[in-house]
Amino acid sequence: MLEKRPPSNPYVRIGRIDKHNPVSFQQVVNLYKNTGWLESHDRQSDTWVPILIAGSLCCFGAFHDKKLVGFGRAISDTVSDAYIQDVMVSDSYRGQGLGRRIVNAILEELRSRHINWIGLISTPGTAEFYRRLGFTSLRGHVPMRFSGK
Ligand SMILES: CC(C)(COP(=O)(O)OP(=O)(O)OC[C@H]1O[C@@H](n2cnc3c(N)ncnc32)[C@H](O)[C@@H]1OP(=O)(O)O)[C@@H](O)C(=O)NCCC(=O)NCCS
Repeated sequence: MLEKRPPSNPYVRIGRIDKHNPVSFQQVVNLYKNTGWLESHDRQSDTWVPILIAGSLCCFGAFHDKKLVGFGRAISDTVSDAYIQDVMVSDSYRGQGLGRRIVNAILEELRSRHINWIGLISTPGTAEFYRRLGFTSLRGHVPMRFSGK
């Protein structure tokens, strides 16, 4: 069972995305663009989507019929640590519990593999969303990104 609470939008199902359960890559690209994580004119980045799906430990989508309205994934060494990435819900489907259901599906997968160190970097304005799902800030730790040469 993927659900931790009754779904607040019962018409949307959460499902795994992988080679056995493929999704139109264009739908994923559109979600990334909707969120602003891919530029609408950035055609080169479109080619990343199949690669990032294949290179993730797990990906889950939120589907309204066949339409992809949400997405999230985890990258991991598969035994020790995992990072949750790119959790996103299409504008018009936000506030219906889909983000929570996607994160819970990812958590269930990671915990079934006994991966106990699960981290993420929350984008500005989303920390409370993750706190409600059981995440806490790491005291004294600072998220960093290499920006040198
Ligand atoms: C963040 C995001 C995934 C949340 O998805 P969502 O489907 O709207 O969230 P849900 O409806 O599942 O919300 C779950 C709970 O978190 C709360 N919540 C959701 N977004 C929140 C926010 N930005 N700030 C505070 N609380 C939030 C909801 O009120 C709900 O509370 P409840 O437990 O009392 O019911 C969505 O707003 C989004 O796609 N944002 C743009 C992409 C992004 O920034 N993703 C985060 C990457 S780190």
